[in-house]
Amino acid sequence: MKTQEGLFTSNLLGGNTENGLAIKDTPEIKAYSSQEILNKVILGDALKVLRKLPEEFVDMIFMDPPYFLQLPNKKLKRWTVKTEVDAVNDDWDKFASFEEYDNFIKNILTELKRVMKPNATIWVIATYHSIFRIGKIMQDLGFWILNDVHWVKTNPMPNWLGVRFTNATETLIWAVKDKKAKKYTFNKDLAKEFGIGKVGANVWVLPICSGKERLKDENGKRLHSTQKPIELLKRVILTSTKKGDLILDPVAGTGTTGYVAKTLKRDFVMIEVNENYIKGIVERFRKPLKIAEEPFPRSTKVNNYLGLEGGE
Ligand SMILES: C[S@@+](CC[C@H](N)C(=O)[O-])C[C@H]1O[C@@H](n2cnc3c(N)ncnc32)[C@H](O)[C@@H]1O
Repeated sequence: MKTQEGLFTSNLLGGNTENGLAIKDTPEIKAYSSQEILNKVILGDALKVLRKLPEEFVDMIFMDPPYFLQLPNKKLKRWTVKTEVDAVNDDWDKFASFEEYDNFIKNILTELKRVMKPNATIWVIATYHSIFRIGKIMQDLGFWILNDVHWVKTNPMPNWLGVRFTNATETLIWAVKDKKAKKYTFNKDLAKEFGIGKVGANVWVLPICSGKERLKDENGKRLHSTQKPIELLKRVILTSTKKGDLILDPVAGTGTTGYVAKTLKRDFVMIEVNENYIKGIVERFRKPLKIAEEPFPRSTKVNNYLGLEGGE
């Protein structure tokens, strides 16, 4: 994988912290206590930072790793209107081979397992490009899968070339660290409310992150190509944690996990390797924390979209 080590040498963070939110990892730091990283985002390589964290100290993990999309190295044009597609072609998504990608995922998951409390749970989200590999690696490492939750996007990016189905889903694997773990947090009433149909099944229907929610860079362009919607994290956090729990995100991007965690009165620790994204997170936290309280979209709209009974 291409690293972003160069970014570490600049001083965007204005020293080691800004707002008391960001910490820059360095080789001199050998270990972190849970107290010194509470509600912080650490600028550093997750593989290096995770090894410095204490054992069994987090209640829940949300990981949204690189997808390894393997898009062709050329500009993608829409078939009909010939305009350029804003694809996910970031350096952080590039690996030399499946082997390199698998090793990256395996090494991170190994450390994540170590820092999970015995009854903690972990969510990992990905598309068809990598979710099957991630699931196998998780099972091989002894994680016990509780569910896969299917996120159905109401506004997916169409398959512009028209050569395959439009991919409108991402999969979230929800797991405990081993088969023995029993007393994990599961708020079944909320799970039922968020899922589809009368039984509240494991399908969440909601749009991708857009509009005002999307963080912008100084040129007004989207800061991050795969910022996750607040509503997605809200569902993850409300169904699988209690107030005061500690949530870890080792590949934080725009910091959606920590942002929603804090708004819902949970604590967080985040790690992110890209200094520009950390800057975006610091900006995001500067404004008053705010997320919609109402479930979104309303179930009537969801039913309508899926052609289920009870639509508008
Ligand atoms: C799919 S994005 C996460 C998006 C995030 N969930 C959000 O809502 O913005 C994956 C992130 O992993 C980060 N990343 C990749 N390799 C990393 C590493 N070794 N350590 C820490 N972060 C890494 C990338 O910079 C990227 O922001």
